[in-house]
Amino acid sequence: MIICKSAAEIEKLRRSGRMVRELLEEIKGLVRPGVTTLDLENFVAKRVKELGAKPAFKGYRGYPCCLCASINSEVIHAIPSPRRALREGDIVSLDTGVILDGYYGDSAVTLPVGAISDSAQRLLKVTEEALELAIQKARLGNRLGDVCFTVQQHAEKNGYSVVREFVGHGIGKAMHEEPQVPNYGQAGHGPVLKPGMVFAIEPMVNAGGPDVRVLGDNWTAVTVDGGLSAHFEHMVAVTQNGPDVLTRI
Ligand code: MF3
Ligand code: CO
Repeated sequence: MIICKSAAEIEKLRRSGRMVRELLEEIKGLVRPGVTTLDLENFVAKRVKELGAKPAFKGYRGYPCCLCASINSEVIHAIPSPRRALREGDIVSLDTGVILDGYYGDSAVTLPVGAISDSAQRLLKVTEEALELAIQKARLGNRLGDVCFTVQQHAEKNGYSVVREFVGHGIGKAMHEEPQVPNYGQAGHGPVLKPGMVFAIEPMVNAGGPDVRVLGDNWTAVTVDGGLSAHFEHMVAVTQNGPDVLTRI
């Protein structure tokens, strides 16, 4: 069952969503060569507390941190570490979440560290475009498959592949609600979109092949072929007035 949110609930999700996005903006200011992913984690932990929220990820299925910081061929869920310093030319996916007033916020961006290659830049651009195009499909009259198909189509049209093992999700009073929102699918298939549905759409796009594996830490997902991977995530509500991105500041 997909839970449809009231207008008041959507406003609560907007508060948590915007808080996450503001956190990501603040972290962006810290991203530079030499900074470790644990430095970024420590910043997030401190800020979430100051803002009167709770970190959504810490303790979730035993995840030890507030932030996932996945570098280059790491796709998602890399655990911050004092041994992982960012280097010029890296790309880093930063994914974090909060709980504010009982409602979840969840968002991710992939950022360049200093100057990056043209190919890395293109991967970031196409992945973010795939997210924006998919958001535009989150409207009445469409089906969920239209959203999912759009991510896949835009990635593959540009010579990239989409990850199958991890998916976007409904979000509300739980971080992961129904439905799953894969980054692949068939247009015209799946549940009909209704007002008040809220989705976290999160394309994970690989420069090479789609296959991923999880490292021995049981969290970090990496590409099997070692190619770069990018990840962007927004929360979007389906409304009478079209897609409403709750993580826009
Ligand atoms: N944004 C991710 C998701 O939507 C991260 C949560 S996994 C966690 O599932 F373990 F880090 F919490
Ligand atoms: Co998510």
